[in-house]
Amino acid sequence: MTHGRPGPDDGPQQQRFGGGVSRRGLLARVGAAALIGAGTGLGAGEALSPPTDTAADTAAPPRLRMAGAHAPRGGPDRLQPGITGPPPAFAHVVALDLAGSGSGGGGGDSAEGARERAAAVLREWSAAADRLHREGPAAVVPGAASADLLPASLGVTVGVGASLLEAVGRRDARPEAMADLPEFATDALREQWCGGDLLVQVGAEDPMVAAAAVQHLLARAREHTRVRWSVRGFRRTSAAAEDPAATPRNLMGQIDGTNNPAAGSSLLARTVQARPGAGPDWMAGGSYVVVRRIRMLLEDWFDTGVDHRERVIGRDLATGAPLGRHGPDAEVDLGATGADGRPAVPDHAHIRLAGPQNNLGARMLRRGYSFDEGWRGDGTRDAGLLFMAWQADPARGFVPVQQNLADSGDALNEYTRHEGSALFAVPRAASEGDYIGRALLEG
Ligand code: HEM
Repeated sequence: MTHGRPGPDDGPQQQRFGGGVSRRGLLARVGAAALIGAGTGLGAGEALSPPTDTAADTAAPPRLRMAGAHAPRGGPDRLQPGITGPPPAFAHVVALDLAGSGSGGGGGDSAEGARERAAAVLREWSAAADRLHREGPAAVVPGAASADLLPASLGVTVGVGASLLEAVGRRDARPEAMADLPEFATDALREQWCGGDLLVQVGAEDPMVAAAAVQHLLARAREHTRVRWSVRGFRRTSAAAEDPAATPRNLMGQIDGTNNPAAGSSLLARTVQARPGAGPDWMAGGSYVVVRRIRMLLEDWFDTGVDHRERVIGRDLATGAPLGRHGPDAEVDLGATGADGRPAVPDHAHIRLAGPQNNLGARMLRRGYSFDEGWRGDGTRDAGLLFMAWQADPARGFVPVQQNLADSGDALNEYTRHEGSALFAVPRAASEGDYIGRALLEG
């Protein structure tokens, strides 16, 4: 298959590498891009440079070699790791509240006390993440589950919720882009999976590496935080993929991520990264992530026929091609008609209602993870998509699109339930000796 790239944040890339590049060469280059992208968290739109492998890890497959040795130093053009670049196969996403304050409603701390706590946590996490990125998990956590394991493209991303700004007395610093998400008609939210003062996302190509890093990071903040919700997410591993360069599938079996802004494009940079001057300085060069825990009604979904499932999304299940077009990389043509003269992409198909054509150009970078918690006590299947959408401004990304999907009757709504929701500001990477979010807490 030649459709797309290693992750849902990447659009069709193979054309760019095509024309004289062998499949082997292509995969090597995709591997190299993965190595750099995930390890460094390169700012959107930046050129990729070749990796510098250490002697110790050259025998390992590229995606396992990926080290945080190339992790970014801060500056307004530097996104944190874990935003652009191919998503690693496993991710823990953890939302926490500050002890004694925050959206957990514990109360007690003054704004000054909350600010000290928050600074202590962000300082700890920045330092720990930096070491994890540069030295790998085995070096940082002696005797941990990740001992003897390669870095596995470990990447740590840290964000803050609006409730943190309240708690620390910095309501004045709240960016417009961080406005509360509106209620959507199709919401089925449960408090237990919503909000959070702080966000930690830990991605790795190996679940033990991710688990050990999460353990390490949360232990360092235990005194000042409590976990509000967490999700362990996963995607197909490169090792199991017939074509590791192909865009992966979600638990519904759909190729998911095809029509994302292409890696390295200026569209991706514009879509994802908050420009200096567009909001408060503490968020210049950062990004905003909307996280939605979306349960899939998988039994109902797989009870329907393939034809129906294709019409719900508007794409061919086997190849991912838009209905009415050939090839997964073909542009969506909403005007295409079938033999019966009706629209090839049905009126209520997900891609018709989600695409920028019908949302005043709204764009986001979708970079979510599947989750599977088995079955709830009442027999309900608890699996789906931890949808994560990265953008410079949710009011020009997630919000209008979700509004349209909810109000215009996205055919997918019958098979999904939005049960969790959160919005986090993810500041730029920290400069050496600095910590993520200092400009907010000490500004
Ligand atoms: C479980 C829930 C969801 C599933 C299974 C799902 C699945 C898909 C699939 C299979 C595609 C087509 C391939 C692609 O371009 O990636 C797609 C496209 C898209 N989805 Fe979703 N999606 C879900 C939720 C959402 C939500 C909540 C949003 C935003 C509010 C969204 C926004 C989009 C956008 C913008 C596109 C690209 C449309 C285009 O330009 O062609 N999706 N989705």
